Amino acid sequence: MYSEIVSHRSTAAELAARRPKAIILSGGPKSVYAEGAPTIDPAVYELGVPILGICYGAQLLATGLGGEVARTGSGEYGRTALHRAPGGGGRLLDEWPATGEVWMSHADSIVAVPTGFAVTASTDEVAVAAFESAERGCYGVQFHPEVVHTPLGQDLLKRFLHDICECRPTWTHVSVIESAVAQVRATVGDGRVVCALSGGVDSAVTAALVHKAVGDQLTCVFVDTGLLRAGEADQVEATFRRQFGLDLVHVKAADRFLAALAGVEDPEAKRRAIGELFVRVFEEVAADLGDAGFLAQGTLYPDVVESGTAHAATIKSHHNVGGLPEAMNLALVEPLRLLFKDEVRAVGEELGLPEEIVWRQPFPGPGLAVRIVGEVTAERVRILQAADAVVVEEIRRAGLARELWQAFAVLPAVRSVGVMGDERTYAYPIVVRAVTSEDAMTADWARLPYELLERLSARLINEVAGVNRVAYDITSKPPGTIEWE
Ligand code: XMP
Repeated sequence: MYSEIVSHRSTAAELAARRPKAIILSGGPKSVYAEGAPTIDPAVYELGVPILGICYGAQLLATGLGGEVARTGSGEYGRTALHRAPGGGGRLLDEWPATGEVWMSHADSIVAVPTGFAVTASTDEVAVAAFESAERGCYGVQFHPEVVHTPLGQDLLKRFLHDICECRPTWTHVSVIESAVAQVRATVGDGRVVCALSGGVDSAVTAALVHKAVGDQLTCVFVDTGLLRAGEADQVEATFRRQFGLDLVHVKAADRFLAALAGVEDPEAKRRAIGELFVRVFEEVAADLGDAGFLAQGTLYPDVVESGTAHAATIKSHHNVGGLPEAMNLALVEPLRLLFKDEVRAVGEELGLPEEIVWRQPFPGPGLAVRIVGEVTAERVRILQAADAVVVEEIRRAGLARELWQAFAVLPAVRSVGVMGDERTYAYPIVVRAVTSEDAMTADWARLPYELLERLSARLINEVAGVNRVAYDITSKPPGTIEWE
C-alpha cells in the first residue's frame, strides 16, 4: 500500500490535495491536554476520508469530536487482554475473538466517546479500548495494532485499509521499479550520472535502478576508505563491474583516510574527518569525469521524514556515504526516496542483486572507525576486520543473520593481561555487539545462546592475533546506542 507520513500541522486542504483514501493518526508520547501536544486541523474530520486513530491518535480523535480523555490512574503497559463489547466489535473488530491479546502503552484513558460513537472493546482496566462511528468513518483503538505483540494487528490494519477504505495493494516492488525507472529517465534525459557506491544495500539498489534506467550513462564511484568490512571491496567489484558490467571507478584511498585519522580520538572529530575527506575524494573523481550533471543517492523515506523533524537532538552526526554537499553543482537523483528498507530489499532482489548485498546488515558510513574506540591505526583496523569476519561467519552459521538487526565486533583500544600457552599476553579485547531492532531507533541486546558466545570467544582469541579477551555487550538502546561511537 502506498503511504506517506505527513506532519500533523498539515491543513485539511493540503491533505485533501494529496487525495488520500485513508488517514491514520499515529501514537505519540504526549498527553492530549499537555502544552504543545500535537493537534490537527479540525477540518480533517470533515474531509470524508476514513480515519483510524491509534493510541494518542485515538485520544485526539475522541477529544476532537467531543469525547473526553482523563488521567484516571489506570494506564496500561504491555500485553493486555482485550474484550470485544457485548454489543459487538463494530466494523473494525467484528471478526475478533470475544477476548484477544493486544499491546498497550498509555497513561491517559478515553473516558467518554463522542456523541454517535459506539464503544467496541474494553479491557479490565479501561472502559474504552476501541470505539467507532462507521457512519462518520472514524475509528479509534487505544492499543497498538502496528506492533508484532498484537497478534491480530495486521488483520485490523487490513480490515481498515482493504475493507473500509477500499485501498488496493498495488504498491508492489515491480510497480515501484517501473515508476522509478521511468522517473529517472525523465529526469536525466541523456545526461551523465555519478553514484557513490558504499557496498551497502541502499546505494547498491540505487545504482542498479539507475543503471536499469539509463545504462552506461551511469558511472559508479566506490571509495575504498580502508575502513570497510573484510571482503567488501571485492564484493562490490564482483557484483557491479563483473555481474552488471557497470562503469565503476574504484578509488583506493585507505592511506589517505588513515592519515586523516592519525591522532584523532574524539568520535565526532573522527566522523567529521571521514565525512570531509570522503567528499574531497569524491569531488576529485567527479571533476575527472568532467561532464556529470547528476548525482544518484540512496536516500530512503525515513531520511526524508527525519530531516523534516524540527527538534531532534544530534546524538551522532551521521555520515552517509551518499550524503554529499549540494555545493557540488550536481542535480540529485533519488529513486528510493519513497521507500522503506524492507521495500528497498525487495526491489534489490527483483533487480537480481546478490543475497549478500541485499541482506547485508546496516553498516555506518564512517565504517570501522566508529567501532575502534580511540585512535584508528592500521593494526587496529586489521584486528577488527578479522574479528568482525569471525562474528559475521558464526552468526550466519547459527542462522541468525536475518533475525538480528546487526551483529559485529568492537575494538576498545585498551589492553589487558592474559595467559596463553603459559605465556603472559597483553592484548586488546573484542566486544561482541548483537542487537535486535525494528528501525534502529531503539534496540535490544540479543539473547545469543551461550554455546555461540563460547564459540565466538574461542575463535576470536585463537584466530585473531592481538586479541586475548572477549566481552558481550548487554546494553539496550536507549541508554546505549547501537554503535559504540
Ligand atoms: P546508533 O549507533 O546511532 O546507530 O544507535 C543506529 C543505526 O545507524 C547506523 N549508523 C550509521 N549509518 N552513517 C550511516 O549511514 C552513520 O554515520 C551511522 N552511524 C550509525 C548504525 O549502524 C545503526 O544501524
